[in-house]
Amino acid sequence: MKNSVGRASGKVILLGEHAVVYGVPAIAVGIERGATAAAVPGTDGTRRLRVTTWGAEVDATDETRDLARAFAALLVAARAEGSIFVEAEADLPPGGGLGCSAALGVAVARAVLNSVHGAATDEQTLECAMAWERVFHGNPSGVDAACATLGGSVRFEKGQPIETLVVRAPLHFAIGHSGIASSTRSMVESVARQKERRPEIVQKAFDGIAALVKNARLAIEAGDRASLGKLMDMNQMLLAGLMLSTEEIEKMCGLARDAGALGAKLTGAGGGGCVVALCDSRASAEVVAEAWRGAGFESFVTETRGQQAGPRVVRFVASGGASTP
Ligand code: MEV
Repeated sequence: MKNSVGRASGKVILLGEHAVVYGVPAIAVGIERGATAAAVPGTDGTRRLRVTTWGAEVDATDETRDLARAFAALLVAARAEGSIFVEAEADLPPGGGLGCSAALGVAVARAVLNSVHGAATDEQTLECAMAWERVFHGNPSGVDAACATLGGSVRFEKGQPIETLVVRAPLHFAIGHSGIASSTRSMVESVARQKERRPEIVQKAFDGIAALVKNARLAIEAGDRASLGKLMDMNQMLLAGLMLSTEEIEKMCGLARDAGALGAKLTGAGGGGCVVALCDSRASAEVVAEAWRGAGFESFVTETRGQQAGPRVVRFVASGGASTP
């Protein structure tokens, strides 16, 4: 065992959240903000994790706390035996839809794998991060962990290899927080209840999202940002129909479009969390972010640079076939 560090990206889902849990593909991009972790061999026989951002420190034997159980599951997946101390931090809002827990899981996994085995492949990292994510989210699709591991722009489909996409033109985003934290687990459960009560209607929404994702992939690969923006707007309408939007999210989407965004939608679980607006330049993303700040919503801008090479296919199947949560 040796001292080592791990890093991971946060993510924004451009299209396909929730439907991805039921086997529809999703497209997500890694963002510059993310998480870091440092692992050192322990000296006292314990296996502990400190997450400075959450002001929490746990021992892997504590079965009463999710964080401790997630760390214990990650250590088992990493085949890490022996005493270890890991310290992690994230510059992502928890419950914000930007993949905070997955980024922490990936950063911790990388630090632990590097410390114990001297290397961390993407496949091992994902396996460990999924063990961690299952404790927090029940039956996550794996899109957050995949994006946190690979960064860039990914097409994710449950049970299928993960593809990184060619991004013909840089994508500029403004990201704003609605001010309300939301729980992925409870939003996923809410969609599951709707699917039980009104299966045809929910299936129609998923079919619509699948068509949008297909077209979004073509738009990204062609560098057609205007079409991508419109597809994101349509995805927002379908998500609102699944009762995942809120008054604040709708207000933020309206403000973004009025300020010149090409498209805007909630990202991640919804019910609060963040809104992502696609813009045609960094300057116009700054205008949208400023409009949100003026209305009291915290915001920042980020971008995904053009990725010409690829597509790269990571033959890691993050999760079994489509199943209900
Ligand atoms: C959360 O970031 C994305 C969801 O689709 C849940 C999942 O994919 O596990 C809402």
